[in-house]
Amino acid sequence: MGTATLIIDGKSYELPTFVGSEGERAIDISKLREKTGYITYDPGLGNTGMCKSAITYIDGDAGILRYRGIPIEQFAEHPNFIEVAWLLIFGRLPTKDELARFSERLTQNAPLHEAMRHHFEGFPVNAPPMAVVSAMISTLSCFHYHLFNDDSQFEELAARLISKVRTIAAYAYKRSIGRPYIYPDPRLRYCANLLHMMFSMPYDQYIVDPDIEDALNLVFILHADHEQNCSTTAVRVVGSSRANLFASCAAGVCALWGPLHGGANVEVMEMLEKIHQGGLTPEKYIELAKDKSSPVRLMGFGHRVYKNYDPRAKMLKAACDRVFAKLKRRDPLLDIARKLEELALKDSYFIERKLYPNVDFYSGILFRAIGIPTEMFTVMFAIGRLPGWIAQWKEQHDEANAKIVRPRQIYTGETQHDYVPFEQRRAPSA
Ligand code: CMC
Repeated sequence: MGTATLIIDGKSYELPTFVGSEGERAIDISKLREKTGYITYDPGLGNTGMCKSAITYIDGDAGILRYRGIPIEQFAEHPNFIEVAWLLIFGRLPTKDELARFSERLTQNAPLHEAMRHHFEGFPVNAPPMAVVSAMISTLSCFHYHLFNDDSQFEELAARLISKVRTIAAYAYKRSIGRPYIYPDPRLRYCANLLHMMFSMPYDQYIVDPDIEDALNLVFILHADHEQNCSTTAVRVVGSSRANLFASCAAGVCALWGPLHGGANVEVMEMLEKIHQGGLTPEKYIELAKDKSSPVRLMGFGHRVYKNYDPRAKMLKAACDRVFAKLKRRDPLLDIARKLEELALKDSYFIERKLYPNVDFYSGILFRAIGIPTEMFTVMFAIGRLPGWIAQWKEQHDEANAKIVRPRQIYTGETQHDYVPFEQRRAPSA
């Protein structure tokens, strides 16, 4: 603990400082307004630490990502998404027994209540799957509310959500293509079961290729947490009012949907398709992305925190190479992505702004190789991010003095003036 001196209007104030376990330095301004009458202004909260957290560490300049201290690269060898989920939520690697117990809970909880299955019929066939997933996670609150106020049941609650979101995602997909819902198969592991529910038919069992299963496990692991990103912040904001886990995570899905966040994986694919169909060349696209008068951005590039290559993008690129070699296939979109990356990484616009590929740049190509349709990409991101949301919600929930999130604003509207009756109002001049 140290102090920082702030001088405002000739008066000096001492503010406490502290340092995180990896050297992140912070000034505690929680008493700033009380002491000085000033508040801080930080649009987008890029300089604001909203919480202390022991879950995920990112060094954006060095391109480092660690879950509970473990470098992300170490999960590539034998990817097991459920083990990583448990690690994130409960703070350490599970023992064999703990993992077996958690997996058993997932298996038990995979089916949805039959009443929930009928809910899918109420959505239009062409409903955006993220809308369906968010609505159905909220709906889960109706069926499992008796667990909400019992902390001893938290593992069961987390398992229900992680397991059921997979069934919800598969049914949202089946609804969108008008095919029969397939019940979960208790003999299959997490990722294989998802693929089974998405792609099997009552008369035709989808056979899961172990390499594809591993690839999906890896993609989910790479999405599992990313500290205080937009959707996680949404989960924490909603959870800070002591809203339940399911309601908070439904808000996370909505936040993830946007094209600047999880929705970027769909935008990347649309960008690559557009180039592939001959509408634009990679060179022309790069020029458009640099042109401030055009709204175009190089999707899948840039990050609020990473000012270096996103380590997840590096791993996904390597996974793409592995999977395509195994499948003995080529994807022209992968060639276009490589070309865009090559052009951007030697272009001064991207170099000066430290814009590198992020997680969304290669994930879509891998999803395509796995057989996931584009409209389901962001749903896949949500399934992957769910353990992170749950871990962050729990960390906040367990904090003794957690406060409701309620920021301030700097009001810039009209100062006080009187109500004017209709007959005295004038139309604003054009
Ligand atoms: N293409 C072209 N220019 C860009 C890009 C891009 N992808 N990203 C940032 N810039 C420029 C931006 O125009 C600005 O330029 P200037 O300083 O001249 O005004 C500068 O770089 C800084 O950008 P910013 O928008 O102020 O940075 P931010 O930290 O607010 O935004 C971002 C981060 C991820 C929203 C942004 O980089 C972006 O829009 N990227 C494309 C969308 C994307 O890939 N999103 C996925 C993010 S990673 C996974 C996730 O969170 O889901």
